[in-house]
Amino acid sequence: MMKLLNQLFRRKTIFENNSSQSTLNRVLGTRDLTLFGIAAIIGAGIFSSIGEACSSGGPAVIWLFVLCAIACGFAALCYAEFASRIPVAGSAYTYAYASFGELFAWIIGWALLMEYAIGNIYVAFSWSGYFTHLLDSFGWYLPRWLIVDYASVASYINGKEELITNAIVSTNFGELWVGLNANNEEKELLEAWINAPKLAGIKIIFDMPAIVINILITWLVYRGIKESRNASNTMVILKILVVVLVIIVGAFYIDIENFKPFMPEGFSGVMLGVSAVFFTYIGFDAVSTLAEETKNPQRDLPRGMFYSLLICTVLYILIALVLTGMVPYKSLGVDDPLAFVLAEKNIKWLEYIVSSIAVVAMASVLLVFQLGQPRIWLSMSRDGLLPKAFSTIHPKFQTPSFATIITGVVVGVPILFTNEKFVLDFTSIGTLFAFLLVCGGVLLLPKREKTSTTGFILPFINGKWIFATLLLLAIALIHYQLPDYWKNLFDQTINGSNFKSLSMFIFWMAMFVLGVLSYLKNLNLIPLLGIASCGYLLTGMQQDNWYWFFIWFGIGLVIYFSYGFKNSQLSKN
Ligand code: ALA
Repeated sequence: MMKLLNQLFRRKTIFENNSSQSTLNRVLGTRDLTLFGIAAIIGAGIFSSIGEACSSGGPAVIWLFVLCAIACGFAALCYAEFASRIPVAGSAYTYAYASFGELFAWIIGWALLMEYAIGNIYVAFSWSGYFTHLLDSFGWYLPRWLIVDYASVASYINGKEELITNAIVSTNFGELWVGLNANNEEKELLEAWINAPKLAGIKIIFDMPAIVINILITWLVYRGIKESRNASNTMVILKILVVVLVIIVGAFYIDIENFKPFMPEGFSGVMLGVSAVFFTYIGFDAVSTLAEETKNPQRDLPRGMFYSLLICTVLYILIALVLTGMVPYKSLGVDDPLAFVLAEKNIKWLEYIVSSIAVVAMASVLLVFQLGQPRIWLSMSRDGLLPKAFSTIHPKFQTPSFATIITGVVVGVPILFTNEKFVLDFTSIGTLFAFLLVCGGVLLLPKREKTSTTGFILPFINGKWIFATLLLLAIALIHYQLPDYWKNLFDQTINGSNFKSLSMFIFWMAMFVLGVLSYLKNLNLIPLLGIASCGYLLTGMQQDNWYWFFIWFGIGLVIYFSYGFKNSQLSKN
């Protein structure tokens, strides 16, 4: 039993410098990494998912942006500490391997797959949405069965089959639209269903532009990091410009009345947007996957992460204020909120620019994530947790060629079966989980002294008293503001009647345990606050997402025990 536990928690030595092993090209500096960070951060979130968050929370959604930025900021500090100690590719996976041991490393690597590959499915869908609407505006109208996903069509059609069949027989579609009271998006789903050709009795409906962009990006990443970097830097500058332009122009159209009340749906309404808002920040950590292609990883990686996170936070808060100030918040529940507010205010010239740049912006997110995923697999394969093929480096392009192609397949195939909402929640939950483990991992690292080569060192703030005091303050404040909160939480948790209460209860229990541990072990306050803020955001996730998350988790464990456990490099020592 002890032997098994030792094997499961065997750790990689963290101070070993694997740079001699690196066969990748070291061409990136701080500026490139910051731009890479922004390339990964600003994308489908701000151009698409932010709309839902604004419509459920109102202008107060900016607090959620602040909250997510704080959580990501703490996680970034922890990432930076790891990245400066372990400047090799693999991101949080490698960090977990050094601190928690192999099993956790595998789990985190598996969770990162949700962030990078599954996240890219959402971005590819959103990219396709903007792209096809752009084509529509040029009058190039692709058949709808080639631009929507099967899962969305099937769930919309469910229960309406008879109505639709009758309409097809009588070819009276006008009545069908009226009968179903369909909005524009729903009309597209219906149109896809009605016009789709059949193969072996199955309707052919799939999001072709999402598939095509995935193939193009995979090819670009396969061709080489230098080409990818050049493409990425140009895209980033364009998208920053367009976001700034929307902020400046939109500011002139703000109606202060739209800010009253500022939190129309209460804080629970704001928290409904947690997946969507958190998603907007995902990506800064992709920077750390490029350690082996960075000239001076100790110095450049932390800087790249902080600068990109800071710039994006400012832009997000401003854009959320502009959107909710320009139109009533309820109307923002659309797929293309930026283009939507501009259309509402009849600012046609900018609407057109925004739609075009959105396509570019989202392509750059796809690019960075598609770069990150194969590099995580590369590390896992070098460690023996994945087959050797995943660490094959292309002799000419010097990229992890096999892993890059498999990433393309992992992103491309689910595009045929899933829909946007599902992948959005799934990605956010997996990423928060990974961040939480990274913050926890930092607590286990031994202290080190600063020397001329140490690079970034996470400041040490003793959490012994401070963390417990902050907890007590939070508990007292909640009691003061919401006198029934604690009683309701206990009652509902004990009845098992409310999933939200159960997750909040688990959160508070975990905080209590952390409070005790920080008192006993003098833990660093920064990772503690990282765990607390990421943990709090996780309480905003819906019950269904947790089910899927645990299924995913289970599949990961099966793969680990049937392959990685036996083939790990550490098992050979
Ligand atoms: N933050 C990235 C985006 O919004 C994932 O597209």
